[in-house]
Order: sequence, then C-alpha cells, then structure tokens
Amino acid sequence: MSSKASSVLEVMNFLNEVAADYPRAVSFASGRPAETLFRDDLWTRGLPKFLEHYAARLGTDIDFASRQLAQYGRTAGLVNDIIATQLNRDESLNVEPGQIVVTTGCQEAISLCIQALCPSASDIVLVRSPTYIGITGAAHGSRIQLEAIDEPVGVAFSQALEAAIVAAKARGLHPRALYITPDFDNPTGSVLELEERRALLSTCGQHHVVVLEDNPYGMFCYEGIRLPTLFALDSDGVVVYLGTYSKTICPALRVGCAVVPKSLFGSIADSKRLLDDLIRRKSFVTVNTSQFNQALAGGLLLLEDCSLDRFAKEASVYYRRNRDRLISALGRVFSGLGDQLTWNRPRGGFFLTVALPFSFGREHAMECAQDFDVLLMPMSFFTMDGSRLDTVRVAFSNLDPKDVELGVERFSRYVQRRFER
Ligand SMILES: Cc1ncc(COP(=O)(O)O)c(C=O)c1O
Repeated sequence: MSSKASSVLEVMNFLNEVAADYPRAVSFASGRPAETLFRDDLWTRGLPKFLEHYAARLGTDIDFASRQLAQYGRTAGLVNDIIATQLNRDESLNVEPGQIVVTTGCQEAISLCIQALCPSASDIVLVRSPTYIGITGAAHGSRIQLEAIDEPVGVAFSQALEAAIVAAKARGLHPRALYITPDFDNPTGSVLELEERRALLSTCGQHHVVVLEDNPYGMFCYEGIRLPTLFALDSDGVVVYLGTYSKTICPALRVGCAVVPKSLFGSIADSKRLLDDLIRRKSFVTVNTSQFNQALAGGLLLLEDCSLDRFAKEASVYYRRNRDRLISALGRVFSGLGDQLTWNRPRGGFFLTVALPFSFGREHAMECAQDFDVLLMPMSFFTMDGSRLDTVRVAFSNLDPKDVELGVERFSRYVQRRFER
C-alpha cells in the first residue's frame, strides 16, 4: 500500500474508531457541527413546506406531489432553484438553477469533479498541504494523482501555485484542477486574502486550471468582513463552486452541490459539457440525491426565506465562544512556554492549529487519548508526505464550552510529560 493510501486510511480509522474507543475523552478531533444547534423543525415543518411549494410547481395536489417525491428523481436535482436563491442571498453568487448539480454531500461533488476533469493518467489535481482529507481520499479512490503545492515561507501562494503548475507541466503532467478552501480552511483555519484570491484566479485562468472552491465554513465568520468567494470574483469562468448544508443545517441531510460557471474559460459549450459529464457520472453512482433529503433542506430554506444567515449567525455565537475559550485556555496554560508553543487565531470556521516544540504523530495522539483523555489530530495526517509533524489540528466546533478548558488542561499535562522525557 502506498504511504498516501495508508495515511488516508489511518485518518479515517483514527476518526471513526479511536475516538469511539475513548468515550470519556474530550475530543478536539473531528470538525462536526454542534448537535445543540440542530433544528427540530427540520422534520416537522420543512417537509410540509416543501411539499406545498412542489405541488404548486407541478400544478397538482399535495398527495400527488408527495408520491412524486418518493419516486426516482432528476439526477441534476430537485431543489436547484432554492439553492440558487440561497447562494445568491448568502454568498452573492449570480447563479442560475441550471448551473447546479445537487449532490450527496459535498464529498460526492468533489469526487465527480475530479473524475470529470482528470480522465487521463497524466491529469493531476493540485492541493495545498496540509489539505482536507476528503480530497485525498477521493483522489486515491479514483486513482487520480494529487500534487501538493510547495509553499516556502515568505512566498505568496499564487507564486507557489504558478511554480507548481510549471514544474508539473515540465514533468509531462497536466494540472487540470486546483482544490482549495479559501475560507477558514480545514485543517488549518486559514483564510486566503483578497489579493491572493485575485492572483490565484489569474494564474489558473492563464493555465486553464479549474479551481474547485470548497466552502463549507464561509458563513461562520467571527470577526472582520467576509471576503468574496472565488466564484463571485471570477469573471473568466475558472471556478466550480462546491457547497454543502452539512455545517449550516446538519450532516445527516447529505445535501451539497457543484455549481459550474456559465462559461468555462470563455466557452459556454465546455461549461455545458462539464455539467453534463457531472450529471452522467452521478447517474451511475447515486442516480439522484435522496429527494426526501432535498425536500427537507429545501423546505427549511423556504421557511427561512432562502437564507441561512440567521442560522449561521446564531451558530457563530456558539462557535466563536468556543474559539475564544480555547484561545484563552491555551494562553493561560501555556503562557510559561513563551513562543515554544504557538497557535493561530482563526477568524472563523471550526479549526485552530497549534505548533509544538516536539513531534506529534499517531502514537503520540494515541498516548494522549489513553493517558490523558484528550483527542487531537496530528497535522501530518493531512499532508501527503507525513510532514508538519510538529503541528496539531484542534477542532473546537462540537464541544460543550466547559469541556474546552478541561481538554486544554489535559493536553497541557501531556505537554508537561513530553518536556520531562
Ligand atoms: C473542507 C470540507 N469539505 C467538505 C466536507 C464534507 O462535506 P459533506 O458533509 O457535504 O460531504 C467537509 C467536512 O468536514 C470539509 O471540512
């Protein structure tokens, strides 16, 4: 098994099994949304609201509409009009329903896009390192080569990207896509600044590299102004936008989307070809995204006037409080260590990064869980070469606020043990 494959499996194993083995542990391991924020009226009011809307759309009664809902559906989706309006209201995206494929979570959108964009063995996808494990797993499952962009300290991302594209081409490879989460990235929590967004679009436009913009966390902004998405800034048809309702509504919906630009690098025909390709591929994978689940999501959006702004603002109060507690607990507990142990201050999202003065890999994460009842993810799990061994990802989204301090105190005892060795 390649080291890349084993590291993907290792992360999945760590998340799914190790966490379950230590139920008493405070878990900073997974970036799940907080369960306390899930909406009960999703079940009770969302579905009837959507059925009303659907019956009016079909010009039938509710009984007929609900039987249609239970049937196989259009592969491209059932609630594309509602999603288009929500993306317009919440993300300022100028999108028509016909540009959207509704997918079974964003994860399916990622898989379909890379498969459609990389049909040949020499086609590759560029990623930052560290990156979201879902793109690594999807590429591995489809035998698509990922290439991490080398970002030396002090070099702008767009320059590193340009260098990676040129170097890959010189090796006979064809960079077809760049996968990126510009807002409150998983795993680092970082944001791509505006000038870098513009430079990235220009570089990818020149080299005909499609940008796959993944945006699960953009609505959870805790300070400063939200930057425009790459899709909103794109005037050359470079960006495919990947959306999800997993974090804003709930993951069990498994509703996400891919939005193709109106013209791909200036070609309406190429854009249509990409859209058709995504739909064709999806039709042989999941046929269509569950119409019940689309109806729940659609109904809830209709109840909220096609905007998740109110939810996201409420949720952001919770998440920001956890972030602030985390940062002040880290400051309190590690103040004596000066800059031997540092962390970033994410402006939004679910993740923070701590840099340690020692390495922290799988065995250390296990030791921490076993002896100190606290779970953290080694950042090396999210790199393709196992680097970033001295960094951890700390997810603060799905914790009872009082457990944040407890978790940091437990981690500090582990750090003390490491210093004593
Ligand atoms: C960056 C990123 N993209 C996509 C997803 C998954 O989205 P979905 O639940 O819609 O498949 C996640 C979930 O953790 C994520 O962090």
